[in-house]
Amino acid sequence: MPLLNWLTRDEDLRSADRVPYRLLDEVPELSQGEGDQGLLVQGDNLEALKALLPFYAGRVKCIYIDPPYNTRSAFEHYDDSLEHAKWLAMIVPRLMLLREFLSEDGSIWVSIDDNEGHYLKVVMDEIFGRRNFVDTVIWEKADSPRNSARQFSSDHDYIFVYAKNEAWVPKRLPRSAEKNAIYKNPDDDPRGPWLPGDPYANKPYSKGQYVVTGPTGREFQPPVGRFWRISQEKLQDLDKDGRIWWGPTKNARPSIKRYLTEVSDLVPRTLWKKDEVGSNRTSKNELRNLSPGEENFTTPKPEPLIQRILHIATNPGDLVLDSFLGSGTTAAVAHKMGRRWIGIEMGEHARTHCALRLKKVIAGEDGGISNDVGWTGGGGFRFCRLGPAVYDAEGRIDAAIRFADLARHVWFSETRRPLGDVPDSPLLGKYEGRAVALLYNGILKDRSPHGGNVLTRPVLRLLKDALPEGFGGELVVYGTACRLSADTLKQENILFRQTPYDIAART
Ligand SMILES: C[S@@+](CC[C@H](N)C(=O)[O-])C[C@H]1O[C@@H](n2cnc3c(N)ncnc32)[C@H](O)[C@@H]1O
Repeated sequence: MPLLNWLTRDEDLRSADRVPYRLLDEVPELSQGEGDQGLLVQGDNLEALKALLPFYAGRVKCIYIDPPYNTRSAFEHYDDSLEHAKWLAMIVPRLMLLREFLSEDGSIWVSIDDNEGHYLKVVMDEIFGRRNFVDTVIWEKADSPRNSARQFSSDHDYIFVYAKNEAWVPKRLPRSAEKNAIYKNPDDDPRGPWLPGDPYANKPYSKGQYVVTGPTGREFQPPVGRFWRISQEKLQDLDKDGRIWWGPTKNARPSIKRYLTEVSDLVPRTLWKKDEVGSNRTSKNELRNLSPGEENFTTPKPEPLIQRILHIATNPGDLVLDSFLGSGTTAAVAHKMGRRWIGIEMGEHARTHCALRLKKVIAGEDGGISNDVGWTGGGGFRFCRLGPAVYDAEGRIDAAIRFADLARHVWFSETRRPLGDVPDSPLLGKYEGRAVALLYNGILKDRSPHGGNVLTRPVLRLLKDALPEGFGGELVVYGTACRLSADTLKQENILFRQTPYDIAART
């Protein structure tokens, strides 16, 4: 497959691996409401994503991002002007990390325009797999032409859609009231409103040439070169069942009724018009109504646009991630639609805009999609900032790291899966025939220096007792030292890894 090359490509492909693991610190005074439907993280998304991986890898159903487009503008709240290769260096490691968050039935949606869109498509093909490319949505963003444009006035943005797996199936869209309104019920059919369907087919059909007599005695046959689309017997059966319409005076050619209750929801299409999902003007108005008279974020997306994405890609309760959160639109929409969410934003507007917007959402704000989804408020979110790195500059485990923190990192580096509930014993769990244990921070209740962090015979006995009867797989043990001989380790099928060195080497 042809690949995109740029000056720092090799380095950029490795840069996500080199980002240190950091912890997340909650800022309780900025968290809001009950429960933790949402997680709002202020910080650079490369570091924040790395910090979140041990918790959420493989668990996110839908990622939506709206990164800076590299439009060579400096916006009020962020700069959008990077040298071309630098933009690629920024986006590539982030996309590589984002991929690790997607569940097997997940999808990622990326807003972009012509400044970087075509380069982005090529790198996304490489990272997500060309066969997993679903489509490009064209979103009509402009309400009116910009006459000051030097050449063309751009009306649209792109949204690239990739699935984690090519078997991904989008949910269908509900039919709009406007689309339903064309169904009528002039004959009070108890099955409800219907549309008169064409009785003819163009394709030759062996049972499609006959003459039929209507209720008034008038005879009908298909126009020259066309055929009835159903056989004569079928037409008579449908007529007996009241499913054929002969016109208001019962003297017209037969039509086959298509009932509203029998038509399915709509397959998503790729052209998303402003009348259906809003435009840039819609989103600016949404923010203006949310915070009248205040200085607002300059490049928000409209709530109905994100609503459509989340409708197609998620169900209530699913987890949604946006790592370029901006004014908080994805989080606000996910919250109102009953999805769980994670939002990352590095600017101060994480606090001044996103947190405030979500506080209003929890209080029941009635703008954006609120009416459409019947939103009346509720739920809550936690606000976090990036905390200390798991390792200090010398590669030692930071003194602030607790057993649970390190357990998540150790488990994730062994399995690439998040650890569920952290156990209160050294045995973290089993995965694909191997068991993983961590001896750290007095987990064995021994408070002497390094006590309980050393693999000795008694500690090994404790670990083995905690394993299910008959477990024959490898036991990986992390600890500060090992007192067992190489022969014993081999005999007992134990792989000893020394903390911190063996973990640090794998981050
Ligand atoms: C185009 S805006 C997103 C707008 C958003 N979709 C909305 O509806 O408000 C892009 C955002 O990404 C943020 N951003 C850019 N680089 C980032 C990074 N490395 N980490 C976290 N946020 C970043 C910017 O501060 C900006 O708020």
